[in-house]
Amino acid sequence: MDAEFDLVIRNAQVATASDTFLSDIGVKDGRIVQMGLSLGAGKREVDAQGRITTPGGIDAHCHLDQPIAPPARMTDDFESGTRSAACGGTTTIIPFAAQQKGQTLRAAVDDYHRRAEGRASIDYGFHLIVSDPTPDVMANELPQLIAEGYTSFKIYMTYDDMKLDDGQILRLLALARAHGAMAMIHAENSECIAWLTESLLDAGLTAPRYHAASRPMLVEREATHRAISLAELVNVPMLLVHVSARDAVEQIQWARSRGLKVLSETCPQYLFLTAEDLGMDDGYEGARCVCSPPPRDSDSQEAIWSALADGTFTVFSSDHAPFSFESPTGKKPGGEEVAFPYIPNGIPGIETRLPLLYSEGVMTGRISINRFVELTATNPAKTYGLHPRKGTIAIGSDADLVIWDEHPDDPVRLTNAMLHHAVDYTPYEGRSLDCWPAYTITGGEVVWDGRRYFGTPGRGRFLPRGLPTIVPAKPTGRAAR
Ligand code: URP
Ligand code: ZN
Ligand code: ZN
Repeated sequence: MDAEFDLVIRNAQVATASDTFLSDIGVKDGRIVQMGLSLGAGKREVDAQGRITTPGGIDAHCHLDQPIAPPARMTDDFESGTRSAACGGTTTIIPFAAQQKGQTLRAAVDDYHRRAEGRASIDYGFHLIVSDPTPDVMANELPQLIAEGYTSFKIYMTYDDMKLDDGQILRLLALARAHGAMAMIHAENSECIAWLTESLLDAGLTAPRYHAASRPMLVEREATHRAISLAELVNVPMLLVHVSARDAVEQIQWARSRGLKVLSETCPQYLFLTAEDLGMDDGYEGARCVCSPPPRDSDSQEAIWSALADGTFTVFSSDHAPFSFESPTGKKPGGEEVAFPYIPNGIPGIETRLPLLYSEGVMTGRISINRFVELTATNPAKTYGLHPRKGTIAIGSDADLVIWDEHPDDPVRLTNAMLHHAVDYTPYEGRSLDCWPAYTITGGEVVWDGRRYFGTPGRGRFLPRGLPTIVPAKPTGRAAR
């Protein structure tokens, strides 16, 4: 008898953002076509008995092969980056096509497509980064690109080569409102950082740990409040990326209590690292954890955990920004140990994002499995115009799935050697994890079976995205598993 399905997942404990239930999942031509118990035969079958099965993760904030000023160069391209993503349970990524000043947006997008094509093994969309909002960008390029499915763009309030002033930000927010796009804001006060950096360098304080001192929580709080105010003035939803600190969380909660549509994202580094990881002395090891905003203290970690549990945060992303430690194109530019402002910003985490949150969030009872799905798949899909094709387990959705292996009695000790990125370290080396994906399935194909990677470079498709759906604020509580 012919098999009815290409793939059947048997007896899965399916977790979506709203429900958990037992079901088989029947897949044909890359999509979920049937759910229920005792489905017909599949050409391939995977036994998920007793295992939680979630939608494949969507990493809505990661940087792969993004052109930046030499000598720095990102260590992961689309081949190694998507391999690493898939082995950690992520089946869709949305990295950034970054406009350099003087470049057209179209040139940045075309260049980024060339970098992804033939290399990505999982599906991908692109956010834009607007660093040069010329009259042509504002009148023609950006509206046209939004219409073509690049429906979100990032605005920087810091970094000399990227930052925009308040007037430029207001005009971009108005454009987002007019065209229904999502503006994502990196909120740190550039002038405060410049002044603090100058003072630290003048005092001879150059070690990596002073990166944190140059960007204290206040710097993020002020910019967060300003970004919220600018969006309120324009009356447009907006998403604050990589929120790191208690004060910023309080600003977001204040905005939401006023009914403002302020969405927000946090990342693993703000749950699992602190400023101490940048160094307790003047050694260079802490360069590994230099990212912006910097990791904070245990009080902010607690605030970030609470905001994950109580519904404040909309999405949980990696902000994977891959630079090797022992590399002249990475954390030691030109082979030198440099002063903190010259250390490339960013840390790797595309593969560890989901296992860390599942192990330390779901398995400890801090968040429910449904909230995990909401943060890592459903909300990113809704916020960035990919739902319901992506981000859920439902008939008609792409068959992008993760079957989880929970092993609390036999924890895994994380080492960089286990990971599939091209970076020479993980900031989470030595951490104990109680779970890992047993299978990652993308478009109905098993790409990871817990030990081996089967992905094919070039198999990932570009995803033109629809307009965002604004995920409303709602308390979700700390539901029992
Ligand atoms: O340090 C970070 N976060 N690097 C990546 C660039 C960004 O601002 O997201
Ligand atoms: Zn940023
Ligand atoms: Zn980033």
